[in-house]
Amino acid sequence: MRESTSLTPLKVAQKTTFLEWDSQPSLFKHYPAFCYRIDENPTLEWLFHVRSVTSSVMIGKKPYHRFNVPSAGNLHPIEMYVQIRNIAGVLDGIYHVDPLNRQIVLIREIERDGIERAIGLENRFNGFIVMFSLVPFRSFWKYGLRAWRYCYLDLGHQIGALCAVAHHFGLAATKLSDIQHHLLNLQMGMGEDEFIAAVYPFGESGKKPATALETESMRVSPCDYTQRERVLSDAIVSEVPYTRCIPETIWNGSISCSRRSAREFYPPAMEDDVLAQIVDTEHETSLEVVHIVLQAQTMQCGVYRNGVCTQVGNYSAEMVHLLLEQRFIAGASVISLIFGRSFDAVTHIEAGKYAHKLYLISEESNAGCSGIGAFYDDEALCWSANPLLYAVAIGGKV
Ligand SMILES: Cc1cc2nc3c(=O)[nH]c(=O)nc-3n(C[C@H](O)[C@H](O)[C@H](O)COP(=O)(O)O)c2cc1C
Repeated sequence: MRESTSLTPLKVAQKTTFLEWDSQPSLFKHYPAFCYRIDENPTLEWLFHVRSVTSSVMIGKKPYHRFNVPSAGNLHPIEMYVQIRNIAGVLDGIYHVDPLNRQIVLIREIERDGIERAIGLENRFNGFIVMFSLVPFRSFWKYGLRAWRYCYLDLGHQIGALCAVAHHFGLAATKLSDIQHHLLNLQMGMGEDEFIAAVYPFGESGKKPATALETESMRVSPCDYTQRERVLSDAIVSEVPYTRCIPETIWNGSISCSRRSAREFYPPAMEDDVLAQIVDTEHETSLEVVHIVLQAQTMQCGVYRNGVCTQVGNYSAEMVHLLLEQRFIAGASVISLIFGRSFDAVTHIEAGKYAHKLYLISEESNAGCSGIGAFYDDEALCWSANPLLYAVAIGGKV
């Protein structure tokens, strides 16, 4: 997928079309009004910390919503579901989490049956099974095939938010293997434009056996319209959902819902100890992270690998150019370049999770932060032999 989703100066220059924002596919999936909905329930409150709309303004005649998680182009190609079993005061069932109306919407009730068999569990699982789906067309509409990368980076952010919330509420995810993803998609009522892409059970397996769901769940389109494209959907449907558990300690910290991506920076407001923390942030072994410190109070500017400055210098112009001449980047104090040891969906998800960690550290330290998914792929190879998957710009808050 690297070649077909890469950006070059020529491709960027040739892209002269303007987007017609009125034709943007809807960001929200709506289950029918007859479905039972839960508005208020303290036991379920944590689910809205995982995914919710945190800001809504009118732009022209259209509402512009932003979420607790960032998303390339603010297009949010993700939906969230949860199977709930044996939680006091909540009907056992499979639910959709509606982030706009802050409601948990019942898709179907369960009894001895459930999605357990499709995710490799023999017995009924008491607790919550959280699932995220991808809706590629929401992102494809703007980015074409490059949306493949953004879907997985966005998903990494969403899993990062889940991990932080789970850590905060003391919930540990159960390890899964043996997911039958085609069966799971069918049982969850996914059509040809939405695919379950990550699964996290919180709770414990009971003693009673679970039976497979005998019928598919109701099928509702995730967008108000869609357009057939095969390459992206085929690539996404063939991936087994991501289930990897994360070392819990790294998720200490903020679950704040006030996060926003930085659009400009104020360098004097950035503290060196925050920079030092960023440069030292742990990452998965599937990644290689190179931090380029552009400006600091006393810290050395230059290239940091494994926490150590290996090349002193001012690389501001190189970073602005690499990241598609996005001018505001010149005001950042550090650019974290996240390379993958391989170029696949899982590594993109892990890059997104790592970037989310940087967002959380920035939020806690009152620094500004923005994910940067637009860059010239081949030019990034002068910083590493591995492919660049994602970058994050961090600096003083205006
Ligand atoms: C995968 C990804 C790529 C992004 N790429 C860029 C980018 O290249 N330039 C930029 O200014 N913002 C970028 N952003 C930030 C989004 O524009 C931002 O998340 C979105 O507009 C929503 O705003 P919010 O994060 O304040 O909620 C990216 C975010 C993500 C998750």
